[in-house]
Amino acid sequence: MSISDTKDEAGATPPKPAYPEHLARESPYPPGVRRVPVDRYFRPEYHELEVERIWKRCWQWVCRAEEIPEVGDHMLYEVADLSFIVVRTAPDEIKAYPNACLHRGRRLCDHPGKRAEEFRCMFHGWAWNIDGTMKDMACGWDFPGTRDEVSRLPECKVGVWSGFVFINPDPDAEPLSDFLGELPDHFEGAGHDLGQRWKQVHVCAELPVNWKVVQEAFLEAWHTNITHPQMVRSPEHAYATGTRWDAFGNWMRLASALPTDKHRSAGPGWGVIAESEQQALNYYYDWHDQEAAAIRLQPGQKTGEITSKAQRAAVGQALGQGADAYHDAHMHSGEMLMLFPNFHPWGGFSRIVYRFRPRGNDPERSLMDILLMAPWPNDRPRPPPAPVHYLTVDQPITDAVELGYLARVFGQDLGNVRAVQDGLKMLRRGYVICSSENEAPVRMFHDLYDKWMGFEDGDHLSRASPANGAAGR
Ligand code: FES
Ligand SMILES: [Fe+2]
Repeated sequence: MSISDTKDEAGATPPKPAYPEHLARESPYPPGVRRVPVDRYFRPEYHELEVERIWKRCWQWVCRAEEIPEVGDHMLYEVADLSFIVVRTAPDEIKAYPNACLHRGRRLCDHPGKRAEEFRCMFHGWAWNIDGTMKDMACGWDFPGTRDEVSRLPECKVGVWSGFVFINPDPDAEPLSDFLGELPDHFEGAGHDLGQRWKQVHVCAELPVNWKVVQEAFLEAWHTNITHPQMVRSPEHAYATGTRWDAFGNWMRLASALPTDKHRSAGPGWGVIAESEQQALNYYYDWHDQEAAAIRLQPGQKTGEITSKAQRAAVGQALGQGADAYHDAHMHSGEMLMLFPNFHPWGGFSRIVYRFRPRGNDPERSLMDILLMAPWPNDRPRPPPAPVHYLTVDQPITDAVELGYLARVFGQDLGNVRAVQDGLKMLRRGYVICSSENEAPVRMFHDLYDKWMGFEDGDHLSRASPANGAAGR
């Protein structure tokens, strides 16, 4: 972390914080366009293979540690048609089990709950302690020679990073810390410990589209100009000169272009819709152009001067202390990060965290979780984490009023994804094309997807003609 000490006992002007090391860390993804076969967005064969090769083998975020604070508190995690029990078994231990009774397979636990001492099956009454050991084998005398095979619930691997509880159903999986790589350096290592945040909002929306279609709508920022035209940018804003994508093993990151960035900067003018600094400031404060602006910029004054100060004040208020130790880049960043296969914890002071997963066994149904993780003072007890607000497939995202203006932004994105799901099936050549720079993260996702699905030598399930790029390259 490169945040210098701002306290100066002699009263001299403290040194300015250095440009954050984690934002300067570059690891560009190889350039090139990529053709992605569309079958993977709707055909059941892909869904079935994803269940076996991704959802049963990959690390997945399941809940927050503070959602199960007491021993016996438990949550259910569901992805595709899989269900897992996640339970706190000791103050410093969390375990996870496939949610199935070892007798005749009834779902063992029907609901999340508090302070359970056992999981008792509601079919014939077999029960296991929360640590997974057998507690009660009702009529065990009638099952000669089987006690050993049901004496313990099978376990998933569990890992916790910054308050996010992850599970991996694969008993041979690598440790979570190996899977994350240097991800923590970009959060707690950079002064943004998500473990200290308060889960202020949690919305879970069911959508009539494949989980990858919706995820990819949140995996690049290039669509902003057309999909979110209200997001005007200042013509001269120092942080609007472009973005760059970097790849770090199992995760990737979009950050603002470095001041020195040449190869990845889109150049001045990209993404600019505001015609004046004043117009950009009006957007920041949500003032309509027709209305009198509450803050009038002086000639030569830049939007960034005002917004940096405002952001710094808001962050200082949220942290319960000054934000002087943070470089301006922290005030403007909010980097988009994505950990394969489906977890998006944004960086900096952004509150956004997303998760995308298939819903049941319909390849054209998914769940999108949206969390707002608010900065919170270290020395004040956190309010309880927000419960999940579920939206049915028929509800607009704007029903989640707790998302504020973001609900309207997400509404624009989700309008696209339904249309994409329809249009994909009409593509005669059977593939979509992802760009070299702006869509690098989508390309990278599909490279990782191919690796996990066993498609390194070509997508053997695809019906698209190889001559047209069915191999996806
Ligand atoms: S299925 Fe669970 S006790 Fe019979
Ligand atoms: Fe968007």
